[in-house]
Amino acid sequence: MRTVYIDGSFVPENEATVSIFDRSFLFSHGVYEVTSVINGGLIDHMGHMKRLKLSLEGALIPFEVDSDHILRIQKRLIEMNNLDEGLIYLQISRGAEDRDFLPTPSLQPSIVMFTQEKALLDPPQARDGIRIVSVPDIRWRRRDVKAVSLLAPVLAKETARQHGVQDAWMIEDGYVTEGTSNNAYIITRDNVIVTRHLSHDILHGITRQAVLSVAQSMNMTVEERPFTIEEAYSAREAFISSASTLVWPVVEIDGKSIMDGKVGAVTREIRRQYIKASLERLM
Ligand code: PDD
Repeated sequence: MRTVYIDGSFVPENEATVSIFDRSFLFSHGVYEVTSVINGGLIDHMGHMKRLKLSLEGALIPFEVDSDHILRIQKRLIEMNNLDEGLIYLQISRGAEDRDFLPTPSLQPSIVMFTQEKALLDPPQARDGIRIVSVPDIRWRRRDVKAVSLLAPVLAKETARQHGVQDAWMIEDGYVTEGTSNNAYIITRDNVIVTRHLSHDILHGITRQAVLSVAQSMNMTVEERPFTIEEAYSAREAFISSASTLVWPVVEIDGKSIMDGKVGAVTREIRRQYIKASLERLM
């Protein structure tokens, strides 16, 4: 049984309870972060803390983020749960009180954190690549806020499952926004890495930031701009990035193989270098 963290206490997972009046539960009024853990260390802790602050501001949740304090709690959770490889989930809710759209201004937010074991360094998807389908992006307009309202990606992942593939890319006005829970990239026939530019339309991935700096150190040309799904069909390579996948190759989109349908050499190298650079920065 795991030990989890809830509002100042470390407790067995079956003793951690949240009120039915919690605003995350009733209104999706909560934000979250997922941080990868490798060799018991956290990847890009500070990046996740910076984005958490922006999400809290975007969701009007008055919570003072103390990154060092959160790091200490997360390190303790890793230790207590003997976590070597996996994820730490953190969620901050606006708090709990009787149901009303507007919270009492003095209502205290609440925080939970828990660990999840997950293979990150050598999962089959990294070796073989994943197949995806495209779906309409039906999410709200502040996707840069990492809010817990995840119904649209849940439905998109169900659509992917019905098609017998592993994930979906979301399309808006003819352009790919991002994956259901990851950022989306193509590598063109001219060897240019293309990924959508930062705006309210996508989550500003912490892994994305590190991947782009790895790409620059590999002297790759990067274009941050929208791309169409047709451009992706005829790309040389495609891949996704997130804390829970790091970098996974995409080998098929909407039933069409990307080139020969095999994992691309550049994606493989980006993944390798991303992991190497991340291990050097572990906290
Ligand atoms: N998802 N885009 C979306 C919509 C996401 O949900 C995520 C992360 C990303 C990648 O962000 P990062 O590199 O910071 O993980 C992009 C997490 C892993 C999740 O919801 O489980």
